[in-house]
Amino acid sequence: MDRWTVGSRLVRTALRDATDPLVADLGYGASPVTAVELASRLASVRPDVRVLGLELDPERVSAASPAADPPRLDFRRGGFELAGTRPVLVRAFNVLRQYTEAEVAAAWRTMLDRLAPRGLLVEGTCDELGRRCCWVTLSATGPLLFTLACRPADLDRPSDLAERLPKSLIHRNVPGEPVHALFEALDRCWATAAPFTTFGPRARWVEAARLLAADGWPVRDDRKRWRLGELTMDWTAVTPAG
Ligand SMILES: C[S@@+](CC[C@H](N)C(=O)[O-])C[C@H]1O[C@@H](n2cnc3c(N)ncnc32)[C@H](O)[C@@H]1O
Repeated sequence: MDRWTVGSRLVRTALRDATDPLVADLGYGASPVTAVELASRLASVRPDVRVLGLELDPERVSAASPAADPPRLDFRRGGFELAGTRPVLVRAFNVLRQYTEAEVAAAWRTMLDRLAPRGLLVEGTCDELGRRCCWVTLSATGPLLFTLACRPADLDRPSDLAERLPKSLIHRNVPGEPVHALFEALDRCWATAAPFTTFGPRARWVEAARLLAADGWPVRDDRKRWRLGELTMDWTAVTPAG
């Protein structure tokens, strides 16, 4: 997800244009490592970036304190209200999965209302190794993009990623819902792309992405990003029914 962040034109522009390059890693967890890595990645786009790790759990804030290097990297107690700050980018990974689907909209709204002008929220879920990831990118107006990112060599089929869907979509992976149709279509493209396995699983993923786009799905980017195991599309591809 960090790699996608620095590769995404949308995020790069927001970060580069920000008056105050403040980024929040909300719910960084037991170890501050995700915030540390995010700060170092984002510095390639905006050398004066400041990353603020926010956690509800005060013990986790104390545990992260030795890694602090203010103002470049700091840790503070805070929740969806972002501790009164106005970041240009909020990353919340593996946080909302502890909540109910009904709580997602309010959590999104609370964070979005506190972003800096033209700020973005990246909210999603991944496995422990970060090899199966799904996330939503939102602006103040709501969801914009949906991204899958994986290590194609670890997949039997793209729908293996469904177990890591963000809370807004994970209960929607049932017939009649767009996200279910997406995984069916992507699995079909993956099957059609099987001959590309000769060139490696990444080549097969690239071909599956190309076929999905040719099928009319609102796929973004090109083979340069697909080759990394990413696949970003417009949120409209998966907007839940009703
Ligand atoms: C599973 S950990 C995720 C750690 C890290 N983001 C990652 O992806 O590896 C979830 C963390 O979110 C924190 N959390 C839950 N709700 C939160 C909220 N509303 N605001 C801030 N942190 C929250 C929990 O305390 C927990 O440490």
